[in-house]
Amino acid sequence: MRFSTLFPVLSTVVLPSSAALVKEGSRCVVSPISAAVASSEEGGLVARQSQVDDTPQILEAFSQCGQDGTIILQEGTYHIRQVMDTTNLRNVSIEIYGTLVWSADNLDYWRRASFDVVYAGRQTAWRIGGRDITMRGFGKALFDGNGQAWIDLANGASNLNGRPISLTVWYGTNVLIDGITWRMAQFWHTFVAHSENVTMTNLDMYTLSSNGRSSQNTDGTDTWNSKNIFIANWTVTCGDDCIAVKGNSTNVHVKNVACTESGATVIGSIGSNAWQPDYVENVVFENITAKHSSNAAWIKTYPGTGYVRNVTFRNIHFEDVNQPIYLSSCICTSWPPPFPPFLSPPFFLPQTCNCNNNNNNNNNNRKRGN
Ligand SMILES: *[C@@H]1O[C@H](CO)[C@@H](O)[C@H](O)[C@H]1NC(C)=O
Ligand SMILES: *[C@@H]1O[C@H](CO)[C@@H](O)[C@H](O)[C@H]1NC(C)=O
Ligand SMILES: *[C@@H]1O[C@H](CO)[C@@H](O)[C@H](O)[C@H]1NC(C)=O
Ligand SMILES: *[C@@H]1O[C@H](CO)[C@@H](O)[C@H](O)[C@H]1NC(C)=O
Ligand SMILES: *[C@@H]1O[C@H](CO)[C@@H](O)[C@H](O)[C@H]1NC(C)=O
Ligand SMILES: *[C@@H]1O[C@H](CO)[C@@H](O)[C@H](O)[C@H]1NC(C)=O
Repeated sequence: MRFSTLFPVLSTVVLPSSAALVKEGSRCVVSPISAAVASSEEGGLVARQSQVDDTPQILEAFSQCGQDGTIILQEGTYHIRQVMDTTNLRNVSIEIYGTLVWSADNLDYWRRASFDVVYAGRQTAWRIGGRDITMRGFGKALFDGNGQAWIDLANGASNLNGRPISLTVWYGTNVLIDGITWRMAQFWHTFVAHSENVTMTNLDMYTLSSNGRSSQNTDGTDTWNSKNIFIANWTVTCGDDCIAVKGNSTNVHVKNVACTESGATVIGSIGSNAWQPDYVENVVFENITAKHSSNAAWIKTYPGTGYVRNVTFRNIHFEDVNQPIYLSSCICTSWPPPFPPFLSPPFFLPQTCNCNNNNNNNNNNRKRGN
């Protein structure tokens, strides 16, 4: 079997019946390598466990069962030490019962290897894409991004290059993601880009810093260049936007979402590239709760081009929120970019807005998780 060559150590300590990946017909059943090692080796476990990498066997399961198949990640802890690109899926059911922990002792690797998702130069640690995909966690799947290590590395810097989004739906059609819990995501918990018919339900996310450094950029989700998105039954506590509908998102329906410490429900930001229009149309947010947050219902744009049309915020509850309803047409911390005095706008650039004006500033009076 192929895995005996990938894991020569394991093949000597684990009985064949507990092999990490078992394929039966179109079903790939994966169990964590660390559990297999733990059950057969008591001493020295901690040292070995930190080097264990479940990524190859998970990618192998996607490769063998990702089309017309079922992939089951059984209970236990999976150590994810490498990026995952699973974008050629078709008619697949992914069932996750275990905990996935993304490594934090190789942040340089993640910064170098994470996949480009184009939007604002961001990257992701895991891309899923293709057609007819369900990924279910049954309330048992737990994604632990070791986010505190990323918060510490960023140390207040926004959008640190290579800091990866946990999970991205990338060119996906007819996708369901349900019943997954995130704790301490690396960056945004999820991102939906170039996708259609995406349903994301019963998700629970929590990423706040435990040491006072800023947990910004830990959005619950962002949508971009996508249509027909349904989001329901989420609980999100994070240091940035809860649900953010970005450029070229159409037909987005969000309901039953509780947001804490966040920017809550957001259109934008959009229009950051003056040369590229952004369109947002047909969006409904309903039955949303925003607690101890900067905003409840927020539309934020840069002075670019495009439009926001037909957006409904309905039945929004808020408690301890700075700007419950907020429309800001100049959402940026430095626009235009700083110039030496002799080249200062307006001589050089049309100055459509001045983001040094605190009334418009993104960070104005921000109340978000630390
Ligand atoms: C989807 O995959 C399952 C096997 O998991 C198969 O039984 C079924 O026929 C496939 N559906 C289509 C439409 O190909
Ligand atoms: C999206 O879902 C709708 C409604 O179920 C369906 O008619 C349409 O074909 C789907 N889009 C694609 C690209 O499969
Ligand atoms: C949302 O949660 C409620 C209450 O638990 C449940 O009845 C409903 O089916 C859920 N909706 C979805 C789309 O899962
Ligand atoms: C509103 O959303 C909350 C979860 O945030 C849920 O418990 C409640 O049942 C929802 N209410 C309705 C009327 O769906
Ligand atoms: C949004 O869609 C328009 C029209 O299709 C396109 O010109 C523009 O580049 C898109 N914007 C982004 C940010 O992709
Ligand atoms: C506005 O959006 C709602 C919800 O997506 C949709 O049902 C309605 O048809 C849209 N109205 C127009 C005029 O497009």
